[in-house]
Amino acid sequence: MTPPAASVEASLYAGNLLVNGKIDSYNPHLMTLEELRVEIEGLERELQERMARIDDDASLDALRVDFLGRKGRISGLFKHLGSLDASERSEAGQLLNTLKERAGQEIARVAQKASAEQLASQLDAERVDMSLPGVYSTFGHLHPMTLVQREIESIFMRMGFSVAAGPEIETEYYNFDALNIPVEHPARADWDTFYIDETSLLRPHTSPVQIRVMETTEPPVRIICPGRCYRRDTQDATHSPVFHQIELLWVEEGLSLANLKYVLEVFTHEFFGEGYEMLFSGDYFPFTEPSVQVHIKAPGATDWLEIMGAGMVDPAVLEGVGYDAEIYTGFAFGLGIERMAMLKYGIDDIRVFLTNDLRFLRQF
Ligand code: DAH
Repeated sequence: MTPPAASVEASLYAGNLLVNGKIDSYNPHLMTLEELRVEIEGLERELQERMARIDDDASLDALRVDFLGRKGRISGLFKHLGSLDASERSEAGQLLNTLKERAGQEIARVAQKASAEQLASQLDAERVDMSLPGVYSTFGHLHPMTLVQREIESIFMRMGFSVAAGPEIETEYYNFDALNIPVEHPARADWDTFYIDETSLLRPHTSPVQIRVMETTEPPVRIICPGRCYRRDTQDATHSPVFHQIELLWVEEGLSLANLKYVLEVFTHEFFGEGYEMLFSGDYFPFTEPSVQVHIKAPGATDWLEIMGAGMVDPAVLEGVGYDAEIYTGFAFGLGIERMAMLKYGIDDIRVFLTNDLRFLRQF
């Protein structure tokens, strides 16, 4: 609906010229006290009527603007005070203030009620039934292999070893020659496997990392090296063509097999627990002299279990990386992480580490 032109709508209201329903402020007829009283009573009635019909925020807002706005009806009436006698003025002022206050309170009350109702209905709509079962998402956790690897790492890190890494695709030089395993050596055949090209292969052990570290580090060297290894083994309960080792190497002046034994005793005690016995038996590795096989026995058990190969680093290996073998000695070992986990947790099939069976994995 288009609003009618001002001139058409102009009319008289309580003696005032109304233009579009508003008192013409340029040309006000100034009311007497009596006229003001009538006007105020009228407004009060109208307020009650309109309050009773309020049904939404917009109509309440319109009412507020109309009555209480800066240019609203009530403030419009204040203009008339100026022309009254001082005695009449205070009475009229009081009446107007009372009206204004009441209108303010009424409107605020309705607004508050409306917002309380709105809040109540919103809360009702958004109600959450706390007694319903929640939406579950299961938490994952680290793979047992990772847990065991980290546990072993942390035991040796506490003893002052740092963690080194080397490539899984290794050259023949680091994998064999530098470890004192020449081409014609029979030990080479054991590990001679998974070639990538003429001279590089998937490493069958982590021992080549010893060479890489020593080549770039002056002694003392004290490292462990965890990593994946590959062998030409057919998968069965105790063999896997892909498995993990941790290598250890300590080279310094004055080290002997007794130091190796101490380090391994600390490890066995921390990893497997109290009361384990440890035994060295003679073995052979081209890169250690003497070489040993380390066995442990659980408290009360009768069987000895092999846990790793170890030995004093062969002087030829030390000389090969430019260390003076007259001054420095060292020891090393290599252990299979899967084997450690199987011994510790009584697992009898190495394949469970790779098959992702949750019934197994959830036990860790
Ligand atoms: N590299 C050997 C293997 O894979 C294990 C080994 C034996 C590592 C003796 C060593 C060691 O560092 O001194 O079977």
